[in-house]
Amino acid sequence: MFVKYPEELIEEIRMNNDILDVVGEYVKLEKKGKNYFGLCPFHREKTPSFSVDNTKQMYHCFGCGKGGSVIQFVMDAENLDYIEAIKLLAEKARITLPEGESEEEKKRALKTQEIIKINTDAARFYYEQLNDKKNLDARDYLQKRKVSEGVIKKFGLGYSSNEWNLLYSFLKSKNYSDEDLISSGLILAKKSGDGYFDRFRGRVMFPIFDLRGNVIGFGGRVLDDSLPKYMNSPETLVYNKRRNLYALNFAKNSGEKRIIVVEGYMDVISLYQFGIINTVASLGTALTESQGRILKKYAEEIIISYDADTAGQAATMRGLNLLDDIGCNVKVLLIPKGKDPDEFIKANGADAFKKLVDNALSLVEYKIKVLKSQIDTTAIDGKISFLNKAADILSKIDNSVEQEMYIKKISQEYDISQESMFAEVIKRVKPKGNYKPAIKIDSTKIKPVGNKTKSDENNLVHYERIILSLLSIDNSLYRKIEDRINLEFFTLEENRKAAEIIFTKIKDKKGIVPAELLNLVSNESANNFASMIQGECNFEDNLRAILDIIKKIEVIKLDKRQKEILNMISSSGNKEDVDRLKEELKSILIQKKSM
Ligand code: UTP
Ligand code: MN
Repeated sequence: MFVKYPEELIEEIRMNNDILDVVGEYVKLEKKGKNYFGLCPFHREKTPSFSVDNTKQMYHCFGCGKGGSVIQFVMDAENLDYIEAIKLLAEKARITLPEGESEEEKKRALKTQEIIKINTDAARFYYEQLNDKKNLDARDYLQKRKVSEGVIKKFGLGYSSNEWNLLYSFLKSKNYSDEDLISSGLILAKKSGDGYFDRFRGRVMFPIFDLRGNVIGFGGRVLDDSLPKYMNSPETLVYNKRRNLYALNFAKNSGEKRIIVVEGYMDVISLYQFGIINTVASLGTALTESQGRILKKYAEEIIISYDADTAGQAATMRGLNLLDDIGCNVKVLLIPKGKDPDEFIKANGADAFKKLVDNALSLVEYKIKVLKSQIDTTAIDGKISFLNKAADILSKIDNSVEQEMYIKKISQEYDISQESMFAEVIKRVKPKGNYKPAIKIDSTKIKPVGNKTKSDENNLVHYERIILSLLSIDNSLYRKIEDRINLEFFTLEENRKAAEIIFTKIKDKKGIVPAELLNLVSNESANNFASMIQGECNFEDNLRAILDIIKKIEVIKLDKRQKEILNMISSSGNKEDVDRLKEELKSILIQKKSM
């Protein structure tokens, strides 16, 4: 499928085009249960059978069978080939593609590279400035904040001196054009029109890296209490603050299942220095969906740890809801006494912080805690109002076991009778509408082998696809089955190739999501995968299901070999061969018996 562009880039483009937004341009969607439904744009229909799963970033039509990721959707909706669809989506997300064909694309690509070079040179320059004896103030400042030499190096911290155009002169000596320097955002033109000056002056500099480690922008902090405290690079061809997270390039390799999201540069840096390296910063802006989806890709659990002030609390709630909506597991880490993570860890050490991480609150617990802080429950009125609002929150939990657990926990914690809490929650749980919720299929009911209309080969391909789908839905399954399957396990070339990429991604801790899998296969197969991922692959127990399917495949393969052997025995005249075949047959029968 990858004619031209690297996989990572295609994935970046996919992640930055929310399927609901893109499909929403063509189809009027309505939320029903977990999914969105609308009239299929690809076949005539009067009742909606076209569904979009926001969490999985996929669509599927139960009527005509079409389905896929946002890329297949654009291909079908706009009648484009793969490359054209990628181009259109890249354009939408303002992502620059390498060496495009048109003059304009080529120019843009060159300029992008040039800006990254300028940024990299500037970062080196700032770093050297920090070591310059003239700039002891900056050194002292970092020392005062207890930033170690190792961390300064790791994060490439630097200093922009107070002079007006030191960076400009340095960059000019490297022969960059004024036009490109302006585009980098590091240099500004004087209003009078006669000359240029540096944007950042007299600030500690924090380079911002993208996932590949390119310097895409900077933040700069004053050394005192003057304002603005921080200044940041403007949006440029390479820096989009809605799409990047500070330090994700380090956090994604931390080997941890969870990522902690904090507000500031200094929070990330201090935590890192204390050995907590799975931290990113959203840099003072509200979390965006793009950032959420990127986080989801790299972490099984996301812990938000924002400042406890009211602004921070509002930002926490927004971030939580956003992440929850796109299907992330989220928690909230609360820091006592209104400190930020940087202040807390310096005062209390790493173990104390880790304890806070372990005690992070779930979304429901956090919402109820906030509610409690807003209502005075000493009087009867307050207590009733709290009970009602808490029941509103609890009634939205769709897993009934979880719901029950929370009802018990919360009624105990806030001293409310369990029975009245139960009663209030039950009142609020709406009867299911006429849409069909995601069907939970018992893994024993997977389409049976020996389906008369399907040959063994077809069954194998089908089962292989279920395995790939399940791995993309739940990456953690891989560890549990890796000694049972290898690439040769897959009979269909396309499946084998997809498996190779999936295995590698999971092994490299890059992770893979269902919508990505759809881009590894032909369009026709993508339809099939999409319907499978949204329907058939909703097992109660994914591990049991995948093990069952592996077994089914093994049985088919053994049956096939058994047939071959019987044929060979009946047609062979050579006694040695026959004996050998009989031995193999015996071992097959034993294997089958033990399954
Ligand atoms: P904070 O003020 O919480 O930053 O703002 P901090 O990291 O704790 O700052 P220190 O400890 O005083 O150095 C959080 C983030 O919001 C952005 C920055 O990215 C900052 O790290 N911010 C803040 C700005 O962009 N501009 C500002 O003027 C302030
Ligand atoms: Mn701080």
